[in-house]
Amino acid sequence: MKQWPLSNLWKKLPEQVRRLSILGIILVAFFLMIRSLLIPSDFGKFGHYRASAVEEIASLPMQYAGQMACVECHEETVTLKGKGYHKNVACEICHGPAAAHTRDPGSVKLTAPRGRGYCPICHEYLPSRPTGFPQIVSNSHNPMKPCISCHNPHDPKPPQTPKECSACHGEIAKTKSLSHHVYIPCTRCHNVPKGHKISPRKFLPTKPSTREFCGGCHAKGAAGEKGIPQVDLATHGKRYVCWQCHYPHLPEAH
Ligand code: HEC
Ligand code: HEC
Ligand code: HEC
Ligand code: HEC
Ligand code: HEC
Ligand code: HEC
Ligand code: HEC
Ligand code: HEC
Repeated sequence: MKQWPLSNLWKKLPEQVRRLSILGIILVAFFLMIRSLLIPSDFGKFGHYRASAVEEIASLPMQYAGQMACVECHEETVTLKGKGYHKNVACEICHGPAAAHTRDPGSVKLTAPRGRGYCPICHEYLPSRPTGFPQIVSNSHNPMKPCISCHNPHDPKPPQTPKECSACHGEIAKTKSLSHHVYIPCTRCHNVPKGHKISPRKFLPTKPSTREFCGGCHAKGAAGEKGIPQVDLATHGKRYVCWQCHYPHLPEAH
């Protein structure tokens, strides 16, 4: 009887390896079968996707119209928004997809987000947002009243210029008020230009930049009130600026 060339080898394999290989072959066959049944025929024609998907997506109805489409009928709003803080926030972010409305404004009405819940999606305080981005804590920022009773959503400048630094730097002010530096006014360490409270990002205050600045109160022999702890500037934490070790708004030494 003619022998299959590998049958000797097959017989020599231990029983459990033979069983495992049979199972493996069945699994591979099963996988190939499922693959040929489930993958659409035009998959991979142009790349790692279904070729007909492009046409299908292109034939979906348009939902968004784009801001230019609003000019025709809402020119005043477009101009007003274009000059304000929300110039880069598209109309349809707040009002939803508007293509149908632009074609037939009489029967397709848009809604406007008038409630307090909406604006904090972008403006609620989150440590991960960039420091410069205007943020509020909605539970304590004028609670109960709708945001749009004070801020025009199309030109949301604050209704009045805040007097206190804490209006915008609430976290820092709160931290400092519990620290050894509680009685040092913010402006002792920061020169604040007039425009900062109106256009904070355009007119930035200064920040201390040298060890000698803190040394003005803390260097050995510096004149000042009694009771200020003093260190030897020549040796204490030398080579580093003081705020690499002491957070200036909450300096802790012990
Ligand atoms: C062809 C003219 C036309 C175009 C284009 C148009 N609108 Fe309107 N829109 C109207 C009219 C008319 C009304 C008033 C409908 C009413 O109150 O019966 C209206 C009302 C609205 C309202 C009011 C909803 C409310 O609660 O009072 C919003 C918001 C709005 N449009 C947003 C948009 C946006 C965003 C665009 C651009 C994507 C746009 N519209 C494009 C004509 C237009
Ligand atoms: C930040 C969100 C936001 C953006 C962006 C926005 N809107 Fe509005 N819009 C609102 C809110 C909230 C109201 C309701 C105002 C009210 O009831 O006093 C409103 C009201 C309206 C109204 C009703 C009439 C009025 O002025 O009160 C129209 C029309 C309108 N918006 C058009 C637009 C157009 C056009 C754009 C883009 C140029 C736009 N909106 C961008 C939030 C927004
Ligand atoms: C999609 C995100 C988004 C939404 C939603 C949004 N805003 Fe804004 N808002 C911005 C951006 C972006 C700026 C400009 C920030 C800048 O100038 O760096 C801004 C600026 C502002 C400012 C100016 C703060 C300052 O620097 O003095 C106020 C106030 C404001 N928004 C209120 C609102 C109100 C009220 C609503 C709800 C009707 C709203 N925002 C909804 C993104 C948003
Ligand atoms: C009673 C009026 C009033 C209401 C209601 C109100 N605000 Fe304000 N908002 C102000 C004033 C005034 C300022 C200027 C800073 C200050 O004095 O707190 C301001 C400042 C802001 C700023 C700028 C903060 C910064 O760091 O630059 C944002 C953003 C803001 N408000 C968003 C909102 C949002 C969102 C709501 C609704 C959840 C809202 N405001 C409700 C009056 C109001
Ligand atoms: C209307 C809101 C507002 C008020 C009021 C305000 N600031 Fe600011 N301040 C800002 C914003 C927003 C920035 C962030 C700019 C950035 O990070 O891009 C800033 C940045 C700063 C910086 C950092 C500058 C830098 O280079 O990093 C200092 C320091 C500062 N403010 C101090 C003060 C002091 C002190 C006061 C009170 C006299 C004050 N600010 C009042 C909004 C305000
Ligand atoms: C004892 C001096 C001192 C006082 C008082 C002080 N600061 Fe500062 N502040 C600093 C120094 C130093 C830095 C720089 C820290 C750095 O670069 O890491 C700074 C940084 C800042 C920044 C930039 C962001 C940050 O957290 O680093 C802001 C905003 C700021 N201060 C606001 C204030 C406000 C508002 C007050 C009053 C409530 C205040 N500072 C009081 C010394 C001070
Ligand atoms: C206007 C004077 C003045 C300036 C400028 C000043 N401090 Fe102070 N500092 C004080 C006073 C007052 C105390 C609190 C003394 C006490 O314990 O009552 C203090 C306390 C401290 C403490 C000790 C905290 C503890 O736990 O005992 C450190 C650390 C400190 N400051 C660091 C700094 C740094 C860093 C700077 C520069 C960014 C600075 N200080 C600028 C006045 C000043
Ligand atoms: C390398 C980190 C580091 C640097 C940089 C640094 N310090 Fe300190 N500082 C400490 C430590 C740790 C302590 C607490 C232990 C001690 O008293 O030496 C302290 C303590 C202090 C105290 C309290 C001393 C007392 O007797 O209660 C003051 C005030 C102080 N530092 C001010 C400063 C000033 C001002 C600068 C900048 C000229 C500065 N430090 C730079 C680490 C540093």
